[in-house]
Amino acid sequence: MLIKSLLTSALLAFSLGESVAASKHGHFGQLARLPQERAKKTVEAQRKKVSRSTKNFEYLSKKTKPYLVDHLPEVNFDIGEMYSGSVPIEKNDTSRSLFFIFQPKLGEPVDEITIWLNGGPGCSSMEAFIQENGRFLWQPGTFAPVETPYSWVNLTNVLWVDQPVGTGFSTGTPVATSEEEIAQEFVKFFKNWQEIFGIKNYKIYVTGESYAGRYVPYISAAFLDEKNKEHFDLHGALVYDPCIGQFDYVQEQVPTVPFVKENANLFNLNDTFMAELEHLHKKCGYADWIDEYLTFPPPKHQPPKPYALTSLDEECDVFDLAINAVSAVNPCFDVYEINLQCPILWDVTGFPTSLVYTPEGAQVYFDRPDVKRALHAPSNITWVECSNNPVFVGGDSGPEGEGDTSANPIEKVLPQVIEATNRVLIGNGDFDMIIITNGTLMAIQNMTWNGHLGFQKKPETPIDIKIPDLVYASVYAENGEAGIDGAQGIMGIQHYERGLMWVETFQSGHMQPQFQPRSSYRHLEWLLNRTQTI
Ligand SMILES: *[C@@H]1O[C@H](CO)[C@@H](O)[C@H](O)[C@H]1NC(C)=O
Ligand SMILES: *[C@@H]1O[C@H](CO)[C@@H](O)[C@H](O)[C@H]1NC(C)=O
Ligand SMILES: *[C@@H]1O[C@H](CO)[C@@H](O)[C@H](O)[C@H]1NC(C)=O
Ligand SMILES: *[C@@H]1O[C@H](CO)[C@@H](O)[C@H](O)[C@H]1NC(C)=O
Ligand SMILES: *[C@@H]1O[C@H](CO)[C@@H](O)[C@H](O)[C@H]1NC(C)=O
Ligand SMILES: *[C@@H]1O[C@H](CO)[C@@H](O)[C@H](O)[C@H]1NC(C)=O
Ligand SMILES: *[C@@H]1O[C@H](CO)[C@@H](O)[C@H](O)[C@H]1NC(C)=O
Repeated sequence: MLIKSLLTSALLAFSLGESVAASKHGHFGQLARLPQERAKKTVEAQRKKVSRSTKNFEYLSKKTKPYLVDHLPEVNFDIGEMYSGSVPIEKNDTSRSLFFIFQPKLGEPVDEITIWLNGGPGCSSMEAFIQENGRFLWQPGTFAPVETPYSWVNLTNVLWVDQPVGTGFSTGTPVATSEEEIAQEFVKFFKNWQEIFGIKNYKIYVTGESYAGRYVPYISAAFLDEKNKEHFDLHGALVYDPCIGQFDYVQEQVPTVPFVKENANLFNLNDTFMAELEHLHKKCGYADWIDEYLTFPPPKHQPPKPYALTSLDEECDVFDLAINAVSAVNPCFDVYEINLQCPILWDVTGFPTSLVYTPEGAQVYFDRPDVKRALHAPSNITWVECSNNPVFVGGDSGPEGEGDTSANPIEKVLPQVIEATNRVLIGNGDFDMIIITNGTLMAIQNMTWNGHLGFQKKPETPIDIKIPDLVYASVYAENGEAGIDGAQGIMGIQHYERGLMWVETFQSGHMQPQFQPRSSYRHLEWLLNRTQTI
């Protein structure tokens, strides 16, 4: 078993470490000893049995009891109130269901639900639960799950859902060829889920990242179309590094070369190659596109993308050219987080970089039988972070050839959601290459909402993160450096016009709650209307 060998080697490292430290003298030896005391305490704490009380659980009832999670393997602290399991899309048909995890807010209860969806298409929302915004996280390369002070559960009730059918622990055979279809299934699932949890008249927020840039606006629009405040009272939406526009072209190819140049010391590509990229950037029309459309206000609508994906002009595929070149320089290059260097870390989801990777002896956490039992998950599903089979079955149809035929969200549903709620946040991380910050901004500049095309002014208001470091503060203190890891300062740009908040997040990869949790915490506070500026 995985954890056993980990613990043994940690103990071994500890006892070796002690003898080394004991032979050292003075300042540096002392500095080394303190963290080892801490490691010893951690290992001891992990052996203690966790006791817990369900007395104050807000949502515990006869109907929810089968979903209550008592413990999770390797999580050696009280997991608090948490539910998970399968809920059918049609009440009379349990063969087609979506899987959820629900963690109610810490402290004072609120009458809100924030739904979180990962993208893909076909990627499980368990990723965000365990590595982005859940109450405890087990991030790549780390020793054990830990509680996080930046969890979204600090602020609101959070519901992670594996959808559409074919994703994660959901059950049934994928049949969808459009966002409209999967949104209808989600509407049905969500109503059934609320009935189980006795929830009515809550404020609903829909959030997610990446391909969920398509799910979130379509599901939000379907909620609005229900015209049912009891179950679908949508108050806002948030999407990170989202596929909202013509993402393969505007959010990827067009901004690639300036992105590589701006991050030149992370790519380390040679001058000849950089000159070739620059040449293609001009020749393929990308430079002109940026000059014309990355402007505030934009002059007019952008044309549709100038090629069909099936006949993609290979010469102009600067995105893949750059990735192939940088993968030679840095085999651990991660298109989701371009600042990563080797080694590739082990990852409980089996997907630490752009590469699927599980080192020998390690196991994918959600695919362990004991974890599936604890979560009331279907035992006969092989859990993978991102599905091996398509969850949209339209072949290579659709605007980006994903078998998903729905129009890009900027064309209709996203404006509808902004106009109905006046509380939508779109954000992009600057270390993300799969969806590039300036590309997402260009997608916004091709959207008409609340009477105008695009933002009228250039985003430039800084985001000042005043939240102190709550995760490593004690490590700094033990090293005699208390306090230097203070508040972060300026970590991004915010810009609000006509119901839409744009945020650019500095030093963040694709998964913003994972890489810049303090920024993401502030974004959620804005979404929930706890603050009017970030
Ligand atoms: C479930 O009910 C719906 C609507 O009444 C019906 O169309 C469907 O065939 C039923 N499915 C099963 C498996 O009974
Ligand atoms: C989240 O809640 C915990 C427990 O109340 C608290 O210690 C922590 O500071 C909170 N986090 C933030 C960012 O306020
Ligand atoms: C994004 O666009 C702005 C112009 O609006 C430019 O100054 C900046 O360098 C671009 N950033 C990247 C990473 O390409
Ligand atoms: C820009 O918007 C127009 C109008 O909705 C649409 O026809 C066009 O395809 C869009 N172009 C891109 C690149 O998204
Ligand atoms: C420059 O980089 C390109 C792309 O990786 C590579 O094919 C080429 O051999 C390199 N040139 C030199 C002189 O190293
Ligand atoms: C898993 O088991 C259920 C219930 O026995 C069955 O309906 C379903 O087809 C099985 N799924 C897979 C992927 O084997
Ligand atoms: C948001 O908060 C402000 C200030 O507290 C309040 O005036 C407003 O009514 C709230 N908006 C919604 C939609 O609840």
